[in-house]
Amino acid sequence: MAEINGTAKLPSSGNKQGEVGERLWAGSMTAIIVLLLAVVVYTSAHWGFHPPSQVETIDSTSLHKGGEFSEPNLGTVIAPDGSALVRVVALQYAFVPSCLVVPAGKPVTIRLVSADAVHGFLVQGTNVNAMVVPGYVTTVHTTFNELGERLMPCHEFCGVGHHAMWARVRVVEPSSFPTDADKQKAVNCAS
Ligand code: CUA
Repeated sequence: MAEINGTAKLPSSGNKQGEVGERLWAGSMTAIIVLLLAVVVYTSAHWGFHPPSQVETIDSTSLHKGGEFSEPNLGTVIAPDGSALVRVVALQYAFVPSCLVVPAGKPVTIRLVSADAVHGFLVQGTNVNAMVVPGYVTTVHTTFNELGERLMPCHEFCGVGHHAMWARVRVVEPSSFPTDADKQKAVNCAS
């Protein structure tokens, strides 16, 4: 009996080491998964990060021929309630317009389309960050509370000029927001 116990003890003590290792592994994996879920919940709740929820298609080959993203419509229009709608076209290798103007403290909706390749855009220091895929309209809702200018680079590699593709976002007081003289066109920094 003693012999059997003796031989049985060897593998059992080896198993115990393995068991501790497995428990550590399972515990650390569970902790990592819980941490990642916590980060998802925290960023979505605190920073307003969320995946694009709507799918809206558009013919990227005929943007210039008219419609919502024709040239006079590119830029910012202010609704009667003070909120802003910004329309932008991304193309190799620029954003049109290259400087967006938005009112501080008001809801801003940015609608972006690509005329050619896959592009991306983010506004530094904000929760604005999305891809722009040909054939689809990317819509982002946000509010800019701080006055001043922020960079808006393209963050999807889109070709040899990718590094030079960026725009600016100028946040101004709603009272000093530029208006188009004949109120027919959307405005940008140059207005
Ligand atoms: Cu557009 Cu990179």
